[in-house]
Amino acid sequence: MNKLKWGIIGSGGITHALVKGLAESETGELNAVSSRTQESSDQWGEKYNLPKGKCYPSYAAMLADEEIDAVYVALMNDRHCELTVQAAEAGKHILCEKPLAMNHGEVMVMLEACRANKVFLMEAFMWRCHPGTAEWLKLIREAVIGDVRLIEAQFGFNMNGNPTGTRMINKLGGGGIMDVGCYTVSAARAIAGNAQGKDFAEPIDMQGYGHIGETGVDEWAAATMRFPGDILANLSCGLQVSQHNQIRIYGSKGHMIIPSPWFADGKAIIQVGDEQREVAHSSPKSLYTHEVDMLGRCVREGRLEAYTPAMTWADSLGQQLTLDRWRKAVGVVFEGETLDKRPNSHPAQGSSNAASVNS
Ligand SMILES: NC(=O)c1ccc[n+]([C@@H]2O[C@H](COP(=O)([O-])OP(=O)(O)OC[C@H]3O[C@@H](n4cnc5c(N)ncnc54)[C@H](OP(=O)(O)O)[C@@H]3O)[C@@H](O)[C@H]2O)c1
Repeated sequence: MNKLKWGIIGSGGITHALVKGLAESETGELNAVSSRTQESSDQWGEKYNLPKGKCYPSYAAMLADEEIDAVYVALMNDRHCELTVQAAEAGKHILCEKPLAMNHGEVMVMLEACRANKVFLMEAFMWRCHPGTAEWLKLIREAVIGDVRLIEAQFGFNMNGNPTGTRMINKLGGGGIMDVGCYTVSAARAIAGNAQGKDFAEPIDMQGYGHIGETGVDEWAAATMRFPGDILANLSCGLQVSQHNQIRIYGSKGHMIIPSPWFADGKAIIQVGDEQREVAHSSPKSLYTHEVDMLGRCVREGRLEAYTPAMTWADSLGQQLTLDRWRKAVGVVFEGETLDKRPNSHPAQGSSNAASVNS
């Protein structure tokens, strides 16, 4: 079967990981790249031996290339919606980086464009595409640790005060919640859901706290969520903090630790009473290859959305709404956002902020 031809939108950091995954994929192959400038497009293309004619000086030029079947939207968060809509209108299947958009409203627009143009769309949470993730979620569903009661998830790293990186820029949708907190939200929603026989669940109530730095984004943040069944989650994240970056799940009979969930090595450590066991799903494929092949498999089958626990459309909608609520509690508002009752200005620079959001 012919491989899908992929075009890359953007030439930034994450594209290199995805392209390595693409090279090992059974279903896809690299065909083109596009960037804001011809120069950076050429430089990127040279690295991967792309012909000059396949290194585009604009995203629009690449979207007009009829040979391309699928695109990878790898820009910062503020451009995800716009480029996904343009790609859908050009008839391309889409893998779009996480978080899928700046806010819930944008996700609705993106889904509608993909539905109308009958193209596949998946939010690029690579950790949800790894078979090891599906396996330990199944163990949660089978209640190997009993009824799930508490969830802890962390994802944070220290940029050492660097205020210039794209992740720190408010206008681009930066901040810890958007960059890494989104992983912890996707974990809590999946665990709380699987604990009750569903693919994901939405928090009923939540409280959020955070420290907003000079650039108007959260540098570290925490949230407490209550899910149906009184499953409680403690989530934390940050761009100026070092964390253990694990998931810990506590049930009525025992607990489960996922030591490396985000860069999934497939391992889960389960303790029930005095007995500890480790389950491991090693896979010869890289995380990003699994992600690329999820798109390839679904497109071949005529599906518009992924197989769970990879991100389905409803999962992405709930995911973004939860991020909106966490940001709202902390007081992070992006430039140009005119959503609901969010404050119009950022809280005082360097301040701490906390609020609860109930629904
Ligand atoms: N799944 C993962 O493992 C993972 C890991 C890291 C990041 N991500 C996600 O991937 C996306 C990109 O992250 P990244 O680390 O690759 O970002 P990045 O390298 O900082 O930037 C990505 C691209 O955005 C454009 N860009 C950079 N700075 C800009 C600015 N000031 N104004 C306008 N455009 C600008 C550039 O496009 P041109 O090349 O066209 O100039 C750049 O190549 C984000 O959504 C992030 O959350 C995912």
